[in-house]
Formats: sequence, C-alpha cells, structure tokens
Amino acid sequence: MTTPQPDTQVPGAQVPPPGCPMHGKLGTVPLYGSSVSDDPHGLYARMREEHGAVAPIELEPGVEAWLVLGYAELLELTRNEQLFSKDSRRWRIPQEGRLKPDSRLLPMTSWRPTLLNLDGAEHQRLRGAVADTLARIDHRQLRQMTENAANALIDSWGPDGTADLVAQYARRLPLLVFTQLLGLPSEAGPHLIELISHFVDSSEKSVRANAEFQAILVDLVRRCRATPGADLTSWLLAHPARLTDEEAVHHLVVILVAGNETSINWTGNTLRLLLTDRRFRATLAGGRLTVSDALDEVLWRDPPTQNFPGRWATGDTVLGGQYINAGDMLVLGLAAANADPAVQSPEGVSGNRAHLAWGAGRHVCPAQHPARLIVETAVETLLHRLPDLQLAVPSHELAWRPSPWSRALVSLPVLYSAFTPPRTPAPERPVWTPPIPSTMPAPPPSGSTPSEATSTPRTPGSAPPARRSWWNSLAGWWSGR
Ligand code: HEM
Repeated sequence: MTTPQPDTQVPGAQVPPPGCPMHGKLGTVPLYGSSVSDDPHGLYARMREEHGAVAPIELEPGVEAWLVLGYAELLELTRNEQLFSKDSRRWRIPQEGRLKPDSRLLPMTSWRPTLLNLDGAEHQRLRGAVADTLARIDHRQLRQMTENAANALIDSWGPDGTADLVAQYARRLPLLVFTQLLGLPSEAGPHLIELISHFVDSSEKSVRANAEFQAILVDLVRRCRATPGADLTSWLLAHPARLTDEEAVHHLVVILVAGNETSINWTGNTLRLLLTDRRFRATLAGGRLTVSDALDEVLWRDPPTQNFPGRWATGDTVLGGQYINAGDMLVLGLAAANADPAVQSPEGVSGNRAHLAWGAGRHVCPAQHPARLIVETAVETLLHRLPDLQLAVPSHELAWRPSPWSRALVSLPVLYSAFTPPRTPAPERPVWTPPIPSTMPAPPPSGSTPSEATSTPRTPGSAPPARRSWWNSLAGWWSGR
C-alpha cells in the first residue's frame, strides 16, 4: 500500500501534525481500539475531512489497508470486480510475511472456497445456489417460526421484571430460527447457541464445541442428501449447481455465521433506538414512527456490520484520489458511506432505503428479505408481549463492543412489569427444550475437514481437533472478535 507522500499528495489532502495520536505510521488511522466503537461517526467524519473518500488505515500495528468512506467510491469498489477482487490470496502483506501467525485478522482474511472469496463464474455458481435456496423460504412460515421462538424466549424469563435484551433475546433468537430453517430439530437451536458461545474461548471447550458444530452440519448434509425434506439444506443440495457435500457444509456455515451475528446486531440496535429515541418512544404507545422506520434508520446509522473486509486490488489504480497498489486491501466502510454528506439529506432517512448496509454489486447480501422478516418479527413480538418495556440504565451507560467490524451492544438491560399473552397460539413443540437429543452426532475425528469427516467413521469420545477450523474462525471474524 502506498500512502501518498507530500510530493505525490492528492490535491486537498492534508499532512497530519507530527505526533498526532490519531495517526499511525505516515498518517494512517488505526481502526482498532475504543474510538471505532465509542464514537465511530466522529472518527469517520475526521477521516473524511482529512483524507477524503478513501482513507489509509491500520488494521493492527504495521498492517495497512484502505477504508472506503465515500458512497460513490464504495459503489465503484463493489461493482468493479475486475479491479477489486474478493480473492484474499492477492493480499500483499501476508505474501511479504508481515502478518503475524497469531494475527487476529487471519480469520477474516484467510481464503476459503466459498462464495465469499470467489469472483466471476465460480462465485455466480455458488451464489446462485445460496440465493435461490434462500428465495424458497415461505415468508408466512418464517414469520410464524420467528414469533414462536420469540414467545418461547420471553416466556422463559423470570417474574422479576428484568432482562438483558442482548444476552437473553437478540443473541438467542436468530439461531433458534436458522436451525429450524436448515432442517435441524428445534432442540438443536439452544445447543448451537451454547456451542457458538464457546468459540470465543481458546480453551479445550472451544475445540470441542467447534468439532461438534462441524459434526452436526456434516450429519445434516448426509441426512438431507439421503432423505430430502422441505428445508434449506435439502434445497441447497438439490440445486442445479450440484454442490458437493463439502461445498454444502461450507455454505451452511456461511449462512449460519453471516446470518446470525448480523441479525443479532440489527435486533439489538433497533431495540436500543426504540427505547432511547423520543421519536420512537412514542411508537411504543402507538405513535407516528413504526418499527419498520426504526429498522431502516439503524441500517443507515448503526448498520450491524459497520465495516466489512474486503476487496483486494488486482492492479495499480486510483480510488477516491488515493493511489492504490496491486495487492492492497480495501475495507468497505458501510457506516461511513451511509453518512457521506454527498447522499445525506437534512430531512433524514425515513422511507429511504438507499443505504449500503447490505453491501452492493455482485456480492450484495442475498438474504435481505428473510433477514428483515426475522428481525422485524422479533422486535414487534417483544413490543407486543412487553408493552411497558423501558431501559433499566441511563442510555449513556449502554456500551458498544470494541470491534472494527460489528456495531454491537454489550448489553441492553430493561425493566417491564406486565406480560401480554402471545398473539398466536403456542407452538406444538416447545422451541426451548435443552438438552440436545441423543441423535446428535459426536465430534468428528481429530483435525478432520468436512469431507474427511463425511467419509471417516465417527469415533465417539475421540480427541477433538487441536486447531480452530475455518468456520470457528469465521464466526469470530463476522462477530468481530
Ligand atoms: C438471514 C440472515 C442473513 C444471511 C443468511 C446472510 C447471508 C449472506 C451471504 C451468503 C453473503 C455473501 C454473498 C456473496 O458473497 O455473494 C452475505 C453478504 C453480506 N451480507 Fe448478509 N446475510 C444475512 C443478514 C445480513 C444482515 C442483517 C446484514 C446487514 C444489514 C447483512 C449484510 C451483508 C453484507 C454487508 C454482505 C457483504 C457484501 C460484500 O461482500 O460486498 N447480511 N450475506
């Protein structure tokens, strides 16, 4: 990456004062630490003022990249696949040996054989399979499934009138829904939540959890291949793109991981807005702005993924007035581009969905409709069940998780005094019924890949793999940990 030097400086760009704490080497701005979580909008505004639409950043000390802050530049980045590739193997920094073996960036920048890291025809083949599969979801059923899961969660809360809407609701609901969509038994939802919660440890538990997560998906693919049902896994396998079992497992992981953390954050951030913003507080008592307005406003101002890695330059070029070298990494500044003064109107964003929270171009999120349905139903069901919901702490005490990627609350403590009965009858089978049934497979053999795990007989109780698998890392990546 080349940060313009004074003699090659782009007109209008300024050189920072020596020793400025906001700057790393040669004017780069660190995209780690608390400023990106405490005051991202202030940070992006300062970067825009100083560098324009594309700013030099450091993702960790000594690891430079570009943050694309301009709306038009972000469209150019995502639409020009020839110049800006999804193939992270092009990244020059690891090629030059400058990425530490234990770098926290590895999970999110390592290349994997999924639609996330491919361009051109191979991307189109896999994307077609995933997008067509998601498009088969019955919206009425999905709404019912989400409402049932939401009601079961709310019913599980104690009588003391307090709850943490992040830990006890937003962080649990999406997986309860996704597991059913994928064709797993409803009991698997709580179990997967438990497993994923261990991914962040670097303990033995994490290794076991990872192996078990993998085994559950391998088993699911095997089962749906043999006996297809009306579920996402069977539809993915039946798609004319003819995914192998290994490809199917990889893409189930992408669906679960991509959908889970983003839906959690969208739910949490929307509930926060509804509980803290006067324009929406009126809504709880039947005011003028709707839940749908709140969902859109969050996608503009606090999108679930605020920055997304990334694209890799295939050749030397100029973007937003900055000189980009072949092999440079560019990060999609989704929150910053939404706040670009070039597209922000003083009237606000109500009714306008031109934000870039879903990305853009060929890799734009293929799950916009189901994701919206899940989150909207989650928020509406909660507001219906707990009509006098209010924050349990002053709003300025709500903290954000330190992450350059996610926009995620640490917690959202609330008080309520009354439950309203569910709008729809309780589900035939309870959604919240741990423990996991004995039909769940044991972990696969040590260090096995999905295909190995498919073809190798299971050894119950055998040693778990000694390393984190790619989807374990992927979960950490998307959740920004
Ligand atoms: C049902 C839930 C969701 C699922 C299953 C899902 C799935 C996916 C998948 C498979 C991709 C990769 C597409 C490709 O590379 O061709 C993707 C990309 C993406 N999704 Fe989602 N997603 C979900 C929810 C969300 C939410 C709630 C947001 C944020 C509002 C979001 C934002 C994005 C972004 C920014 C990208 C990257 C686009 C890029 O690389 O240019 N997704 N999603």
